[in-house]
Amino acid sequence: SGVERLGDMIAEAKTIVPFTGAGISTECGIPDFRSPGGLWMRNRPIPFDEFATSQEARDESWRRRFAMEATFAAAKPGRGHRALASLYRAGKVPAVITQNIDNLHQASGFAAEHVIELHGNTTYARCIGCGQTYQLDWVKRRFEEDGAAPDCTVCDEPVKTATISFGQMMPEDEMQRATELSRDCDLFIAIGSSLVVWPAAGFPMMAKNCGARLVIINREPTEQDDIADLVIRHDIGETLGPFVGN
Ligand code: OAD
Ligand code: ZN
Repeated sequence: SGVERLGDMIAEAKTIVPFTGAGISTECGIPDFRSPGGLWMRNRPIPFDEFATSQEARDESWRRRFAMEATFAAAKPGRGHRALASLYRAGKVPAVITQNIDNLHQASGFAAEHVIELHGNTTYARCIGCGQTYQLDWVKRRFEEDGAAPDCTVCDEPVKTATISFGQMMPEDEMQRATELSRDCDLFIAIGSSLVVWPAAGFPMMAKNCGARLVIINREPTEQDDIADLVIRHDIGETLGPFVGN
């Protein structure tokens, strides 16, 4: 079966790089983007330029974030996160590349420097001008007091969740490290991503082109199934559950 073949490939590999999308966190209660009921089915994304130039867009963006607060606060690592953390502790996984912003790889035991966050992190905030970071509690208090999304106390530019929006520059250091990891692994496992958002979706292909075996685990077909060595079109928790160790 697919899981057995995955087990063999994991056993044979020296360096495994997992690449994760929103599908790994749905069993943790966090909706993905493009499934029925997904976030982009409910709300259109707010592009970076709009956030930067419109107070109304900033207020809307923060209202959406606060509406998700209980969901993010309650979320605990799922079987997928825990399986990857086991392989990390076993020394097989040097780091995880993720499009996710939910901090659950860190919560599962990955050191922060071994979580390559291509799209940032929604558990804290950052000024889009000077980069000053803020706690979400501070943003919330200011929002409640002023009735509007706050600006940076250092440079007066807007404060945003520390995530990457459409139209925003990708983080350079993360892109570089993800490139190196993709080039240097011998097994690359794409987990729970529709693989439609670029440049992130370029990494599975890059790994494959550099000689790694490519596995795709996703319950729906993805854009890159045709170049994969193994496609497991099945639930992630059930597929990776057997690899949760100590
Ligand atoms: P998507 O919502 O595009 O894809 C998630 C995939 O996971 C879907 O194909 C689902 O079928 C699958 N899935 C969900 N739950 C699953 C489960 N339990 N088992 C197996 N498969 C499951 O999410 P991403 O690919 O992560 O970026 O989205 C990529 C980027 O688009 C995000 O990082 C975000 C978004 O716009 C930005 O906003 C910049
Ligand atoms: Zn600032």
